[in-house]
Amino acid sequence: MMNEVIETMMQHRSIRNYKDTIITDEQLYTIIEAGQMASTSSNLQAYSIINIVDRRLRHELAELAGPQWHVDTAPVFLVWCADLRRVAVATETTIDKHIENLELTENFLVATVDTALAAQNSALAAESMGLGILFVGGIRNQIEQVSQLLKLPQHVVPLFGMCIGYPDEQPFIRPRFSLEAVLHQNSYNEEKIEATIAEYDERVVDYVMERSNGADSFSWSESMRRRLSQARQRTTQQAFFQSKGLMKK
Ligand SMILES: Cc1cc2nc3c(=O)[nH]c(=O)nc-3n(C[C@H](O)[C@H](O)[C@H](O)COP(=O)(O)O)c2cc1C
Repeated sequence: MMNEVIETMMQHRSIRNYKDTIITDEQLYTIIEAGQMASTSSNLQAYSIINIVDRRLRHELAELAGPQWHVDTAPVFLVWCADLRRVAVATETTIDKHIENLELTENFLVATVDTALAAQNSALAAESMGLGILFVGGIRNQIEQVSQLLKLPQHVVPLFGMCIGYPDEQPFIRPRFSLEAVLHQNSYNEEKIEATIAEYDERVVDYVMERSNGADSFSWSESMRRRLSQARQRTTQQAFFQSKGLMKK
């Protein structure tokens, strides 16, 4: 079952090297409007997107995110924020009950899910135009500083960045878990976990070898072990979100 949309989705790979070619406002607005048409919990539309056009600000964000040079060099860099501010304003959160509801972890989840759905719709719209994209979670490394730089008010928090531009590279497509690994029937089948991981590990080793011309070799399990054995990172998120009036109970 193939069509143009699915074809585009199956060709996805993150792009980190971009051509200088400018993205027009018309392209950008179409990308954002397509994102906005994603489903949204109870029509909350709990997100905002900050288009970073100021070069100096872009550079500061690139540094805070790692540094990650593609944040500096991509023709477009957007910061996607979970945003319950509009809901707060519309419901006059001076009223205690409104504030209390806004502070629920459930509403924070609603806003993060809404933001991710809209962002992925935008990503797909961009890819359908022949553009490449990269999600940048690195902006959460120093979330407080990023929030201050972007002057985010209460109830608005940065979740991830997104680079957009014409690809100047064509990386290998990164393999995914088998359908069997991720699709369960009626209830969760824990028995298949080990076998499906082992099967995927083999494919990841092949992919990494191919990508690096034989210079590198590691499995998915190895990269997960490496990731989780690092010193704990981004440990201040809970306190930060709470300071923004979110996730308090
Ligand atoms: C929310 C999110 C944050 C990410 N953050 C970064 C990042 O900061 N830097 C980066 O190089 N890639 C980042 N990525 C890209 C992932 O590493 C990439 O999507 C994943 O390895 C799968 O590869 P693919 O997109 O090429 O298929 C991020 C992806 C997501 C969904």
